[in-house]
Amino acid sequence: MRTHYCAEVNETEIGETVTVAGWVSSRRDHGGLIFIDLRDKDQVVQVVCDPADNAEAHKLAEGVRDQFVLIVTGTVRARGEGLENPKLKTGKIEIVADKLIIENTSKPMPFELNDEKVNEEIKLKYRYLELRTQKSYDIFKLRSKATMAARNALDELDFLEVETPIITKSTPEGARDYLVPSRVHGGEFYALPQSPQLFKQLLMVGGFDRYFQIAKCFRDEDLRADRQPEFTQIDVEMSFCDQEDVIDVAEKVIHNIFDKCGFDIPTKFTRMTYMDAMEKYGSDKPDMRYDLAMVDVMDIFARCDNEIFANIAKDAKKNRIKALKVPKGDEIFSKRQMKGFEDYVRKFGAAGLGYFQMKEDGLKGPLTKFFTEEDIQAIIERCELEVGDAVFFGAGNKKLVWDYMGRFRIYLAEIMEIIPEDKFEFLWVMDFPMFEESDGKINAMHHAFTMPQTNDEGKIVYDDIEELKSIAYDIVLNGTELGGGSIRIHKEDLQSEIFKLMGISEEEAEEKFGFLLDAFRFGAPPHGGFALGLDRLIMLMTNSSSIREVIAFPKTQKAQCILTQAPSPVEAEQLNELSLRVRKQEKA
Ligand code: AMO
Repeated sequence: MRTHYCAEVNETEIGETVTVAGWVSSRRDHGGLIFIDLRDKDQVVQVVCDPADNAEAHKLAEGVRDQFVLIVTGTVRARGEGLENPKLKTGKIEIVADKLIIENTSKPMPFELNDEKVNEEIKLKYRYLELRTQKSYDIFKLRSKATMAARNALDELDFLEVETPIITKSTPEGARDYLVPSRVHGGEFYALPQSPQLFKQLLMVGGFDRYFQIAKCFRDEDLRADRQPEFTQIDVEMSFCDQEDVIDVAEKVIHNIFDKCGFDIPTKFTRMTYMDAMEKYGSDKPDMRYDLAMVDVMDIFARCDNEIFANIAKDAKKNRIKALKVPKGDEIFSKRQMKGFEDYVRKFGAAGLGYFQMKEDGLKGPLTKFFTEEDIQAIIERCELEVGDAVFFGAGNKKLVWDYMGRFRIYLAEIMEIIPEDKFEFLWVMDFPMFEESDGKINAMHHAFTMPQTNDEGKIVYDDIEELKSIAYDIVLNGTELGGGSIRIHKEDLQSEIFKLMGISEEEAEEKFGFLLDAFRFGAPPHGGFALGLDRLIMLMTNSSSIREVIAFPKTQKAQCILTQAPSPVEAEQLNELSLRVRKQEKA
């Protein structure tokens, strides 16, 4: 229907007849002349309807409203002097309409398309209208380019793209499963995959050597700004490899994606152990765009004349006393603000938050009276304090202190506005613990198929479960976990041992993972891999505030699709066929 996309019409077409097609993004009637901004998938071009040139087109243009669908044929001419729009790619020309076809009309828009402040529910109800904006188109153009770049990089590296099942058996990644009832096997359920983890491992047993997939994953978990119930991973697995081989592939893929999308990033990324990340930044996904690292001051506080701190300092395995220096903090924050920070950390379980101020005449603050002159000096040196700095202290259970001091670090960076928005800081976080304990249960920190690390003699030491590390790594970008992976267990006896440690009985292991254990008995090769969250990647690349902006048809925070009204009740007959009965739901 068209000869040109709007963006393609420029000065080289002056004098030529072109046909463009798209939506009216605005219409202005200048008494006589009517100007229409016509927008197609990408960019706007100005159409002029002049009754002197073409009375019929002008008459039709009088009835045109925003978002009508038009096909316009006309002659390209240069805009009059002073009427050029340097903000538009097509800002130097306009099309004088010879023929105008109204292909379709449109109801008035339910919201102003480019208004960022519009309620999100309305935008999601009419998501297809929001997709018409330049902002959305640019995001999805980038997403397409990034996906293609990942595919091409993996293809170059000899990876085979393979699809794995969507209705399948549960693949444990720590969230709840979405279940699909079986009609043929009444009372039985498929699960949607939380990731293709087990199938990609089976593909390695199948001898494919290098697999990848742009994979849909489903997790029924509490939603946040960077989580959706349905999301996409760039999922990779390879055989006969070690951790370095996997990291090398991940870096090549990430580099190619950023490069093809026009961003300059390093080819190799910095690394940090999980323990260092927790001790310095109180997080396993620290944002490295700014510093604000913590230092340990437990040994100094152990000597102080305050029973609470001295007691905390007695148990170095369980507790921590951490100092967070804020350069020029004493100059930036009022005393009231500093006290207010205590309320912030209390929300996350802190008993309190101590602070010192580095003044011209030495270290000041409510806690100084508990320390000797030498120890005051030791604090100044340990924290590398200079006049004008402030330093905050968190003391107590190590996991609690890491958590609230880590959150406080981010909070400070936000209020101090020291986070650069145009920077990409990648970080590999390595050597994750194998297990974590919660509610008295031992869970795998990455997943149950991760290879534990061995000691210098090549043995796995199970003496202290909390100390056991795994060959698992996460890739972090600007404080967000972008992806993760591990070297996997490929022997049946070790996999069974790990299930046992996690309190999974032999029967349960057989019932849930029997097929995997069986596969390991048929010559499973050593293997490992990783998965990158594609939606998160695009969210960070486009500086979007929510993952929903980079998914064409996202769910709300309450896991609903407002556009289609899913989830929704089904007919009794359908339930019958599935051997299901629904308990009456109480209205929320
Ligand atoms: P993991 O569970 O760490 O690992 O997931 C990998 C990456 O997927 C993204 N992601 C999500 N994105 C949006 N919404 C969600 N609900 C969501 N959950 C996860 C994140 C995350 O880093 N099978 C392993 C990978 C492996 O070991 O190879 C896995 O799925 O960016």
